[in-house]
Amino acid sequence: MASVVITGVGSYAPNKILTNSDLSKIVDTTDQWICERTGIKERHIAGDDEACSDLAIKAAIAALADANVKPGEIDLLIVATCSGDMPLPSTACLVQHRLGIPAHATSFDIAAACSGFLYAMEIAYGQILTNRYKCALIIGAEKLSALTDWTDRTTCVLFGDGAGAAVLRKVDQSGIGIIGSDLGADGQFVDKLCVPAGGSRKPASAQTVADRAHFIRMNGREVFKSAVRVMDQVAREMLEQHHLTADQIDLVIPHQANRRIIESLSQSLKIPLDRFYINLDRYGNTSAASIPIALAEARRFGRIKPGQITLLIAFGAGLTYGSALIRW
Ligand code: COA
Repeated sequence: MASVVITGVGSYAPNKILTNSDLSKIVDTTDQWICERTGIKERHIAGDDEACSDLAIKAAIAALADANVKPGEIDLLIVATCSGDMPLPSTACLVQHRLGIPAHATSFDIAAACSGFLYAMEIAYGQILTNRYKCALIIGAEKLSALTDWTDRTTCVLFGDGAGAAVLRKVDQSGIGIIGSDLGADGQFVDKLCVPAGGSRKPASAQTVADRAHFIRMNGREVFKSAVRVMDQVAREMLEQHHLTADQIDLVIPHQANRRIIESLSQSLKIPLDRFYINLDRYGNTSAASIPIALAEARRFGRIKPGQITLLIAFGAGLTYGSALIRW
Protein backbone atom coordinates (compact mmCIF):
# COMPACT_ATOMS: atom_id res chain seq x y z
CA MET A 1 0.00 0.00 0.00
CA ALA A 2 1.24 3.48 -0.86
CA SER A 3 0.84 6.83 0.88
CA VAL A 4 1.18 10.48 -0.15
CA VAL A 5 3.57 12.40 2.09
CA ILE A 6 4.62 16.01 2.53
CA THR A 7 8.36 15.88 1.80
CA GLY A 8 9.12 19.57 2.23
CA VAL A 9 7.58 22.80 3.49
CA GLY A 10 8.55 26.45 3.28
CA SER A 11 7.18 29.90 3.92
CA TYR A 12 7.87 33.53 3.22
CA ALA A 13 6.63 36.79 4.69
CA PRO A 14 7.50 40.26 3.37
CA ASN A 15 9.95 42.31 5.45
CA LYS A 16 7.66 45.22 6.24
CA ILE A 17 5.77 44.82 9.52
CA LEU A 18 2.65 46.83 10.35
CA THR A 19 1.95 46.88 14.09
CA ASN A 20 -1.35 47.59 15.80
CA SER A 21 0.03 50.90 16.96
CA ASP A 22 0.90 51.77 13.31
CA LEU A 23 -2.73 50.95 12.43
CA SER A 24 -4.04 53.19 15.19
CA LYS A 25 -2.51 56.10 13.25
CA ILE A 26 -4.49 55.15 10.12
CA VAL A 27 -7.94 54.26 11.54
CA ASP A 28 -9.81 54.78 14.83
CA THR A 29 -8.55 51.72 16.70
CA THR A 30 -6.20 50.73 19.51
CA ASP A 31 -3.63 48.02 20.14
CA GLN A 32 -5.73 46.93 23.12
CA TRP A 33 -8.93 46.49 21.07
CA ILE A 34 -7.18 44.52 18.32
CA CYS A 35 -5.30 42.29 20.81
CA GLU A 36 -8.38 41.60 22.93
CA ARG A 37 -10.82 41.00 20.07
CA THR A 38 -8.49 39.13 17.68
CA GLY A 39 -5.12 38.23 19.28
CA ILE A 40 -3.30 39.91 16.37
CA LYS A 41 -0.33 42.15 17.24
CA GLU A 42 1.30 42.72 13.86
CA ARG A 43 1.17 41.60 10.24
CA HIS A 44 3.57 41.55 7.26
CA ILE A 45 2.77 43.82 4.34
CA ALA A 46 4.19 43.32 0.82
CA GLY A 47 5.92 46.20 -0.94
CA ASP A 48 4.45 47.94 -4.00
CA ASP A 49 6.89 45.96 -6.13
CA GLU A 50 5.83 42.58 -4.65
CA ALA A 51 2.80 40.73 -6.02
CA CYS A 52 1.24 37.43 -4.97
CA SER A 53 3.49 35.40 -7.32
CA ASP A 54 6.64 36.95 -5.82
CA LEU A 55 5.60 35.76 -2.35
CA ALA A 56 4.56 32.36 -3.74
CA ILE A 57 7.91 31.82 -5.48
CA LYS A 58 9.92 32.56 -2.32
CA ALA A 59 7.87 30.09 -0.26
CA ALA A 60 8.10 27.52 -3.08
CA ILE A 61 11.90 27.79 -3.31
CA ALA A 62 12.11 27.14 0.45
CA ALA A 63 9.78 24.12 0.22
CA LEU A 64 11.65 22.63 -2.77
CA ALA A 65 14.97 23.00 -0.92
CA ASP A 66 13.46 21.40 2.20
CA ALA A 67 12.21 18.48 0.07
CA ASN A 68 15.46 18.31 -1.94
CA VAL A 69 13.35 18.38 -5.10
CA LYS A 70 14.28 20.30 -8.30
CA PRO A 71 11.65 22.42 -10.12
CA GLY A 72 12.08 20.08 -13.10
CA GLU A 73 10.63 17.20 -11.06
CA ILE A 74 7.30 18.97 -10.43
CA ASP A 75 4.46 17.78 -12.67
CA LEU A 76 1.55 19.33 -10.73
CA LEU A 77 1.53 22.94 -9.48
CA ILE A 78 -1.43 24.41 -7.62
CA VAL A 79 -1.57 27.94 -6.25
CA ALA A 80 -4.35 28.68 -3.77
CA THR A 81 -5.06 32.41 -3.67
CA CYS A 82 -7.78 35.04 -3.76
CA SER A 83 -5.31 37.86 -4.45
CA GLY A 84 -3.50 36.64 -7.57
CA ASP A 85 -1.35 38.99 -9.64
CA MET A 86 -4.06 39.44 -12.31
CA PRO A 87 -7.60 38.18 -13.02
CA LEU A 88 -6.00 36.20 -15.84
CA PRO A 89 -3.78 34.32 -16.40
CA SER A 90 -3.50 32.22 -13.27
CA THR A 91 -0.78 33.04 -10.76
CA ALA A 92 0.31 29.40 -11.16
CA CYS A 93 1.41 30.15 -14.75
CA LEU A 94 3.60 33.00 -13.52
CA VAL A 95 5.10 30.77 -10.81
CA GLN A 96 5.62 27.87 -13.24
CA HIS A 97 7.59 29.98 -15.70
CA ARG A 98 9.72 31.86 -13.19
CA LEU A 99 10.55 28.77 -11.13
CA GLY A 100 11.50 26.74 -14.20
CA ILE A 101 8.83 24.10 -13.67
CA PRO A 102 8.42 22.19 -16.99
CA ALA A 103 5.67 23.38 -19.32
CA HIS A 104 4.18 19.87 -19.38
CA ALA A 105 3.33 20.24 -15.68
CA THR A 106 -0.35 20.91 -14.96
CA SER A 107 -0.49 24.38 -13.36
CA PHE A 108 -3.58 26.15 -12.08
CA ASP A 109 -5.04 28.32 -9.31
CA ILE A 110 -7.66 27.41 -6.76
CA ALA A 111 -10.16 29.95 -5.45
CA ALA A 112 -11.37 28.65 -2.10
CA ALA A 113 -10.29 31.64 0.03
CA CYS A 114 -8.81 30.65 3.39
CA SER A 115 -9.49 26.93 2.81
CA GLY A 116 -7.55 27.05 -0.48
CA PHE A 117 -4.45 25.26 0.74
CA LEU A 118 -6.48 22.28 1.99
CA TYR A 119 -8.38 22.23 -1.32
CA ALA A 120 -5.02 22.14 -3.15
CA MET A 121 -3.76 19.39 -0.85
CA GLU A 122 -6.84 17.22 -1.39
CA ILE A 123 -6.51 17.47 -5.19
CA ALA A 124 -2.77 16.79 -5.18
CA TYR A 125 -3.28 13.88 -2.77
CA GLY A 126 -5.89 12.18 -4.97
CA GLN A 127 -3.98 12.78 -8.19
CA ILE A 128 -0.70 11.41 -6.83
CA LEU A 129 -2.32 8.42 -5.13
CA THR A 130 -3.94 7.41 -8.43
CA ASN A 131 -0.60 7.75 -10.24
CA ARG A 132 -1.77 10.61 -12.48
CA TYR A 133 1.09 12.81 -11.20
CA LYS A 134 4.34 12.07 -9.37
CA CYS A 135 5.38 15.20 -7.54
CA ALA A 136 3.19 18.19 -6.62
CA LEU A 137 4.05 21.67 -5.44
CA ILE A 138 1.13 23.30 -3.65
CA ILE A 139 1.27 26.92 -2.54
CA GLY A 140 -1.00 29.20 -0.52
CA ALA A 141 -0.06 32.81 -1.28
CA GLU A 142 -1.81 36.09 -0.60
CA LYS A 143 -1.25 39.81 -0.95
CA LEU A 144 -4.41 40.66 0.98
CA SER A 145 -3.16 44.20 1.63
CA ALA A 146 -4.15 44.89 -2.01
CA LEU A 147 -7.77 43.90 -1.25
CA THR A 148 -7.92 45.64 2.13
CA ASP A 149 -9.91 48.83 2.66
CA TRP A 150 -7.46 50.80 4.76
CA THR A 151 -10.27 53.17 5.81
CA ASP A 152 -12.41 50.36 7.30
CA ARG A 153 -11.35 49.58 10.87
CA THR A 154 -13.62 46.52 11.04
CA THR A 155 -11.56 44.66 8.41
CA CYS A 156 -8.16 46.33 7.93
CA VAL A 157 -6.88 45.20 11.34
CA LEU A 158 -7.35 41.54 10.45
CA PHE A 159 -5.37 40.74 7.31
CA GLY A 160 -1.74 40.30 6.29
CA ASP A 161 0.46 39.12 3.40
CA GLY A 162 2.58 35.99 3.05
CA ALA A 163 2.96 32.57 1.45
CA GLY A 164 3.53 28.95 2.41
CA ALA A 165 4.23 25.91 0.26
CA ALA A 166 4.56 22.14 0.41
CA VAL A 167 5.93 19.39 -1.84
CA LEU A 168 3.94 16.15 -2.01
CA ARG A 169 4.92 12.77 -3.40
CA LYS A 170 4.14 9.09 -3.07
CA VAL A 171 5.98 6.57 -0.88
CA ASP A 172 5.64 2.80 -0.77
CA GLN A 173 4.54 2.62 2.82
CA SER A 174 1.04 2.57 4.22
CA GLY A 175 -0.53 4.71 6.93
CA ILE A 176 1.71 7.75 6.79
CA GLY A 177 1.47 11.21 5.26
CA ILE A 178 -2.05 12.40 4.43
CA ILE A 179 -4.31 9.89 6.15
CA GLY A 180 -7.52 11.91 5.84
CA SER A 181 -8.86 14.89 3.90
CA ASP A 182 -12.34 16.34 3.70
CA LEU A 183 -13.69 19.53 2.14
CA GLY A 184 -16.96 21.42 1.88
CA ALA A 185 -18.59 24.66 0.74
CA ASP A 186 -21.85 26.33 1.79
CA GLY A 187 -22.71 29.09 -0.66
CA GLN A 188 -25.55 30.54 1.40
CA PHE A 189 -22.92 32.67 3.18
CA VAL A 190 -21.43 34.27 0.05
CA ASP A 191 -22.38 37.84 0.94
CA LYS A 192 -20.99 37.62 4.50
CA LEU A 193 -17.43 37.88 3.23
CA CYS A 194 -16.67 39.01 -0.30
CA VAL A 195 -15.07 41.51 -2.65
CA PRO A 196 -18.22 42.80 -4.40
CA ALA A 197 -16.71 44.29 -7.59
CA GLY A 198 -14.07 43.51 -10.18
CA GLY A 199 -15.68 40.31 -11.49
CA SER A 200 -18.33 39.82 -14.17
CA ARG A 201 -21.18 40.68 -11.76
CA LYS A 202 -19.87 44.21 -11.20
CA PRO A 203 -16.99 44.99 -13.54
CA ALA A 204 -14.63 47.78 -12.57
CA SER A 205 -16.07 51.23 -13.19
CA ALA A 206 -15.63 54.72 -11.79
CA GLN A 207 -18.65 53.96 -9.59
CA THR A 208 -17.24 50.70 -8.15
CA VAL A 209 -14.00 52.49 -7.36
CA ALA A 210 -15.89 55.38 -5.71
CA ASP A 211 -17.93 52.81 -3.71
CA ARG A 212 -14.70 51.11 -2.53
CA ALA A 213 -16.28 47.90 -3.82
CA HIS A 214 -12.96 46.35 -4.85
CA PHE A 215 -12.07 45.75 -1.23
CA ILE A 216 -13.01 43.00 1.24
CA ARG A 217 -16.44 43.45 2.85
CA MET A 218 -17.31 41.31 5.84
CA ASN A 219 -19.98 40.79 8.45
CA GLY A 220 -17.52 39.93 11.21
CA ARG A 221 -20.02 38.66 13.77
CA GLU A 222 -21.74 36.30 11.32
CA VAL A 223 -18.44 34.97 9.99
CA PHE A 224 -17.22 34.46 13.55
CA LYS A 225 -20.30 32.39 14.48
CA SER A 226 -20.06 30.27 11.32
CA ALA A 227 -16.33 29.70 11.83
CA VAL A 228 -16.77 28.45 15.40
CA ARG A 229 -19.56 26.08 14.35
CA VAL A 230 -17.98 24.75 11.15
CA MET A 231 -14.45 24.25 12.49
CA ASP A 232 -15.71 22.24 15.43
CA GLN A 233 -17.95 20.15 13.15
CA VAL A 234 -15.28 19.31 10.54
CA ALA A 235 -12.71 18.46 13.22
CA ARG A 236 -15.14 16.09 14.97
CA GLU A 237 -16.14 14.43 11.70
CA MET A 238 -12.50 13.89 10.75
CA LEU A 239 -11.66 12.34 14.12
CA GLU A 240 -14.73 10.09 14.00
CA GLN A 241 -14.04 8.94 10.43
CA HIS A 242 -10.54 7.85 11.44
CA HIS A 243 -11.48 6.44 14.85
CA LEU A 244 -9.24 8.89 16.66
CA THR A 245 -9.83 10.64 19.98
CA ALA A 246 -8.85 14.21 20.71
CA ASP A 247 -5.94 13.15 22.93
CA GLN A 248 -4.36 11.26 20.00
CA ILE A 249 -3.87 14.53 18.13
CA ASP A 250 -0.39 15.89 18.81
CA LEU A 251 -0.84 19.24 17.10
CA VAL A 252 -3.75 21.17 15.61
CA ILE A 253 -2.94 23.74 12.94
CA PRO A 254 -6.09 25.82 12.49
CA HIS A 255 -6.66 28.63 10.03
CA GLN A 256 -5.27 31.71 11.75
CA ALA A 257 -8.14 34.22 11.72
CA ASN A 258 -8.95 35.09 15.33
CA ARG A 259 -7.50 33.79 18.60
CA ARG A 260 -10.99 33.67 20.15
CA ILE A 261 -12.15 31.28 17.40
CA ILE A 262 -9.16 29.02 18.14
CA GLU A 263 -9.79 29.19 21.91
CA SER A 264 -13.41 28.22 21.38
CA LEU A 265 -12.31 25.27 19.22
CA SER A 266 -9.83 24.17 21.88
CA GLN A 267 -12.62 24.15 24.48
CA SER A 268 -15.21 22.37 22.35
CA LEU A 269 -12.78 19.69 21.12
CA LYS A 270 -11.20 19.38 24.59
CA ILE A 271 -7.71 19.72 23.12
CA PRO A 272 -5.56 22.03 25.27
CA LEU A 273 -4.52 25.30 23.63
CA ASP A 274 -0.83 24.39 23.93
CA ARG A 275 -1.49 21.64 21.33
CA PHE A 276 -2.67 24.29 18.84
CA TYR A 277 -0.09 26.06 16.68
CA ILE A 278 -0.88 29.77 16.82
CA ASN A 279 1.07 32.47 14.99
CA LEU A 280 -1.69 34.91 14.11
CA ASP A 281 -0.24 37.40 16.60
CA ARG A 282 2.67 37.88 14.12
CA TYR A 283 0.89 37.41 10.78
CA GLY A 284 -2.79 38.28 11.10
CA ASN A 285 -5.08 36.40 8.74
CA THR A 286 -3.18 35.53 5.54
CA SER A 287 -6.08 33.51 4.04
CA ALA A 288 -4.81 30.61 1.89
CA ALA A 289 -1.26 31.20 3.17
CA SER A 290 -2.22 30.87 6.82
CA ILE A 291 -2.10 27.08 7.24
CA PRO A 292 1.05 26.45 5.16
CA ILE A 293 2.95 29.27 6.91
CA ALA A 294 1.96 27.77 10.27
CA LEU A 295 2.85 24.27 9.05
CA ALA A 296 6.30 25.37 7.88
CA GLU A 297 6.93 27.20 11.16
CA ALA A 298 5.71 24.31 13.28
CA ARG A 299 8.15 22.01 11.46
CA ARG A 300 10.99 24.53 11.77
CA PHE A 301 10.37 25.06 15.49
CA GLY A 302 10.33 21.30 16.23
CA ARG A 303 6.60 21.14 16.99
CA ILE A 304 6.17 18.19 14.57
CA LYS A 305 8.02 14.93 15.12
CA PRO A 306 8.06 11.58 13.25
CA GLY A 307 5.07 9.40 14.13
CA GLN A 308 2.97 12.33 15.38
CA ILE A 309 -0.48 13.22 14.08
CA THR A 310 -1.36 16.77 12.97
CA LEU A 311 -4.91 17.97 12.34
CA LEU A 312 -5.33 20.87 9.91
CA ILE A 313 -8.62 22.80 9.97
CA ALA A 314 -9.67 25.62 7.65
CA PHE A 315 -12.66 27.85 6.96
CA GLY A 316 -13.03 30.84 4.70
CA ALA A 317 -15.15 32.98 2.42
CA GLY A 318 -17.82 31.06 0.59
CA LEU A 319 -18.20 29.61 3.20
CA THR A 320 -15.56 27.01 2.34
CA TYR A 321 -14.11 24.64 4.89
CA GLY A 322 -11.86 21.63 5.18
CA SER A 323 -9.79 19.42 7.41
CA ALA A 324 -6.89 17.04 6.95
CA LEU A 325 -5.00 14.53 9.07
CA ILE A 326 -1.29 13.96 8.60
CA ARG A 327 0.87 11.29 10.23
CA TRP A 328 4.55 12.30 10.00
N1 COA B 1 -11.11 49.07 16.68
C1 COA B 1 -11.94 49.53 17.61
N2 COA B 1 -13.26 49.27 17.61
C2 COA B 1 -13.73 48.48 16.62
C3 COA B 1 -12.92 47.97 15.61
C4 COA B 1 -11.56 48.30 15.66
N3 COA B 1 -10.67 47.86 14.75
N4 COA B 1 -13.66 47.24 14.77
C5 COA B 1 -14.93 47.27 15.22
N5 COA B 1 -14.97 48.03 16.35
C6 COA B 1 -16.11 48.34 17.16
C7 COA B 1 -17.42 48.18 16.43
O1 COA B 1 -17.72 49.35 15.71
C8 COA B 1 -18.39 47.93 17.57
O2 COA B 1 -18.72 49.17 18.14
P1 COA B 1 -20.23 49.44 18.64
O3 COA B 1 -20.47 48.40 19.69
O4 COA B 1 -20.13 50.84 19.13
O5 COA B 1 -21.07 49.25 17.43
C9 COA B 1 -17.55 47.15 18.57
O6 COA B 1 -16.19 47.39 18.22
C10 COA B 1 -17.80 45.66 18.55
O7 COA B 1 -17.86 45.24 17.20
P2 COA B 1 -18.11 43.75 16.80
O8 COA B 1 -18.10 43.64 15.30
O9 COA B 1 -19.26 43.20 17.57
O10 COA B 1 -16.79 43.08 17.40
P3 COA B 1 -16.45 41.56 17.48
O11 COA B 1 -16.20 41.20 18.88
O12 COA B 1 -17.39 40.70 16.68
O13 COA B 1 -15.04 41.51 16.73
C11 COA B 1 -14.14 40.88 14.63
C12 COA B 1 -14.97 41.89 15.37
C13 COA B 1 -14.06 41.28 13.16
C14 COA B 1 -12.74 40.88 15.21
C15 COA B 1 -14.77 39.47 14.81
O14 COA B 1 -16.14 39.53 14.54
C16 COA B 1 -14.14 38.43 13.93
O15 COA B 1 -12.97 38.11 14.07
N6 COA B 1 -14.93 37.84 13.03
C17 COA B 1 -14.42 36.79 12.17
C18 COA B 1 -13.59 37.43 11.10
C19 COA B 1 -12.85 36.44 10.30
O16 COA B 1 -12.33 35.50 10.82
N7 COA B 1 -12.78 36.70 9.00
C20 COA B 1 -12.02 35.92 8.11
C21 COA B 1 -12.68 34.64 7.84
S1 COA B 1 -11.59 33.64 6.95
